Amino acid sequence: MTSQDVRKQFLDFFASKGHLIVPSAPIVLKDDPTLMFNNSGMAQFKEYFLGNGTPKSTRIADTQKCLRVSGKHNDLEDVGFDTYHHTMFEMLGNWSFGDYFKKEAINWAWELLTEVYKIPKENLYVSVFEGNPEENVPFDQEAWDIWKELIDEDRIILGNKKDNFWEMGDQGPCGPCSEIHVDIRSAAEKALVSGKSLVNNDHPQVVEIWNNVFMEFNRKADGSLEKLPAKHVDTGMGFERLCMALQGKTSNYDTDVFTPLIEKVEQITGLKYTTNDVILNNSEESQEQNKTNIAIRVVVDHVRAVAFAIADGQLPSNTGAGYVIRRILRRAIRYGFTFLNTKEPFINQLVTVLANQMGGFFPEIKSQQQLVTNVIREEEASFLRTLDQGLQLLENVVAETKGSTVSGTKAFELYDTFGFPIDLTALILREKGFELDEAGFNAAMQEQKNRSRAASEVSTEDWSVLIPGNVETFVGYDKSESDVKITRIRKVDSKKDGILYQIVLDNTPFYPEGGGQVGDKGMLVSANETIEIIDTKKENNLILHFAKQLPENVNAGFVAKVNQDLRSLSSRNHSATHLMHQALRSILGTHVEQKGSLVNPNYLRFDFSHFAKMTETELQQVEDFVNARIQEQLPLIERRNIPFAQAVQEGAMALFGEKYGDEVRAIKFGESMELCGGIHVKNTAEIWHFKIVSEGAVAAGIRRIEAITSDAVKAYFASYENTLNDVKTALKNPQDILKAVHSMQEENAKLTKQIEALVKDKVKNLKVSLIAEIQEINGVQFLAKQVDLNPEGAKDLAYELGNLGNNLFLVLATADEDKPMLTCYVSKELVAEKGLNAGQVVRELGKFIQGGGGGQPFFATAGGKNVAGIQQALEKAVEYVK
Ligand code: ALA
Repeated sequence: MTSQDVRKQFLDFFASKGHLIVPSAPIVLKDDPTLMFNNSGMAQFKEYFLGNGTPKSTRIADTQKCLRVSGKHNDLEDVGFDTYHHTMFEMLGNWSFGDYFKKEAINWAWELLTEVYKIPKENLYVSVFEGNPEENVPFDQEAWDIWKELIDEDRIILGNKKDNFWEMGDQGPCGPCSEIHVDIRSAAEKALVSGKSLVNNDHPQVVEIWNNVFMEFNRKADGSLEKLPAKHVDTGMGFERLCMALQGKTSNYDTDVFTPLIEKVEQITGLKYTTNDVILNNSEESQEQNKTNIAIRVVVDHVRAVAFAIADGQLPSNTGAGYVIRRILRRAIRYGFTFLNTKEPFINQLVTVLANQMGGFFPEIKSQQQLVTNVIREEEASFLRTLDQGLQLLENVVAETKGSTVSGTKAFELYDTFGFPIDLTALILREKGFELDEAGFNAAMQEQKNRSRAASEVSTEDWSVLIPGNVETFVGYDKSESDVKITRIRKVDSKKDGILYQIVLDNTPFYPEGGGQVGDKGMLVSANETIEIIDTKKENNLILHFAKQLPENVNAGFVAKVNQDLRSLSSRNHSATHLMHQALRSILGTHVEQKGSLVNPNYLRFDFSHFAKMTETELQQVEDFVNARIQEQLPLIERRNIPFAQAVQEGAMALFGEKYGDEVRAIKFGESMELCGGIHVKNTAEIWHFKIVSEGAVAAGIRRIEAITSDAVKAYFASYENTLNDVKTALKNPQDILKAVHSMQEENAKLTKQIEALVKDKVKNLKVSLIAEIQEINGVQFLAKQVDLNPEGAKDLAYELGNLGNNLFLVLATADEDKPMLTCYVSKELVAEKGLNAGQVVRELGKFIQGGGGGQPFFATAGGKNVAGIQQALEKAVEYVK
């Protein structure tokens, strides 16, 4: 059974049980500050469990792209070493939101596995929660009784809190769970050791495939459990492991999910991967093969995670989710570099294979294929350069090392400032017969972790609910003021922002940050008090209003007032962003896609896919295009709640990596039509004028434009005008400024030439008088003297004198424009025979003029700050010949 069929049968099965099949949510999460990536199928449904929203159906099933590389669930460092963990994997899941519970969930899981997929019952074990008195959660008798009807009691295992109580994070919905494990060992192995004893013991062929969680609780910030308003089912089955079991393999990497990628790596590197049934022993050859296998697994696993993250809009970067993606890719590059001997970018070539393989079910990987390839190639090239530099730096560190142990602090510097991987440092040192001071490295690492932890510490209290069961409504498209009540409040204390209160209202005109546009600011006003709202953000389905203080009477009625001035500036920049997007697509081509956007009251920033730097003409065309739409005074046509499919059919732009509901909002100005939740102008005339202020690259194939509109354009031109007026005044108000500047430049060039000629004359004259002053000391022709020349003149003079004969040691001092400078010339013979070195001389004598410099053994200069030290420096010079 191909992996495609495995996926399809799962979805078909649950559709037949009345489930709505939904697409996978993007892998990168946008509206949940507690989570960077989707780490399980249920993440996108979290709010439904908590009672903060209503799902489209009480029964849902899907396959979800998951990434377990940060936070509570993190498998990154294991990946490659075993055969069944991944960074990115697909989680097949079915959900009941207050609908069916344990009986149906367990029976359907059993039916699917044993009757549809036909896994032999004697290969399966199940586990049930044993209970935990401290948490006050009892043994799951109900699940036990249901399983007893389906499977031998001997195959039911009791599990503790660690294995059988599932939690998505430190806070949030959770509950006891029942896992299904499959034993795929050979009959001979089974006869020797019972499968039951291997469950939950990290055996690669006795693995968990499916987890059925019975969500009943919410873990609060104080660590306690509270009952959820209803009981739910949340299940997750590891797709790649299921394929392994169904395809009769003993490693996920031997299934058709990975083999096409592995074959491509083999083809590129000329190395061979051995499947899991090839026995590797302790021989040197086997050990080498094992290293190759690990590295290939790392590469084919990581490319999936990185490619899908980029396709969903997350570019590698230096912070947050982007940094995690960059680290995953670098781990793959580094394994390739060391164990597959890949010194050129190659991982990007796997994207085509991945797109062909997965593009049918996940269209985003197909349509973003070129961009994903480019971004990965560029990242590879840049990290390979880093590795190259790091290798050189490591050579220096080794050269400076006394003894055989290399300092951990030095290794940490390499790791921290250059991103040079520590395991690579250790490996190279071992090969060179050095040891790494690991304790020192770990200490430096720990210190840095403590520093950044302290800087990012956040403590979030539990919600205090004033009005329970309220689902907040957003009224901000129609008004900027509204009568409101506070429904809940939470206190957050962070090192970064201090103490802030998050306030949720029964309805709100405040726009929460999203779609690039910043959140509204404003006020909550009651009869007696005014509270300032400094920002508005979304957390899943809640709109959080941030305040530095709470009203005395939180139960009062308030008027929520948005700061209209700021909102209006943002809305002009937002509408201009849409017009610019349209302009770019019509001028550069439809390969242009939005890759990032920021809209605030001051300016707009827009990242988009395009392969080349934009020319001046293209930029001008884009500006003209947008300004033409502004002059046409196009009215806003806003359509709320139209079906997604209809909007797209009518030509609305939808973005990859964005999660859209069934019903969407479309924003139309003339021919520009986008799906968008943001705040816009009523008519493009409000934008007044559009001006691009910069264009540049952010990543391979991704350009960034920054632009301004309305008031900012006025300020921009005003500032230009002021500068121009200042220039005019400084030039004594000429008729034609440009002409005045040009004639000044010409005059300047003429004067420079004249000065050069004068200095040449002066050098000639000085040369004649100085020859007479040269003394012979110990067979060296010596002269140390201050001359009235500029630095170029001193250099010319030194060479002129040097050309006269051999054995010259010359130190000239100048103080042009009160800047002391030493120029030293040493004839080649003196360098070779007496070891005299001009570089060393100026470094040492430079100290007298409080300066430094350098150069070559026969010619060097040093500039300084202390003119008064010149005399002393010249007097010291003679000591070199004495
Ligand atoms: N949410 C459960 C898990 O991820 C199903 O294991």
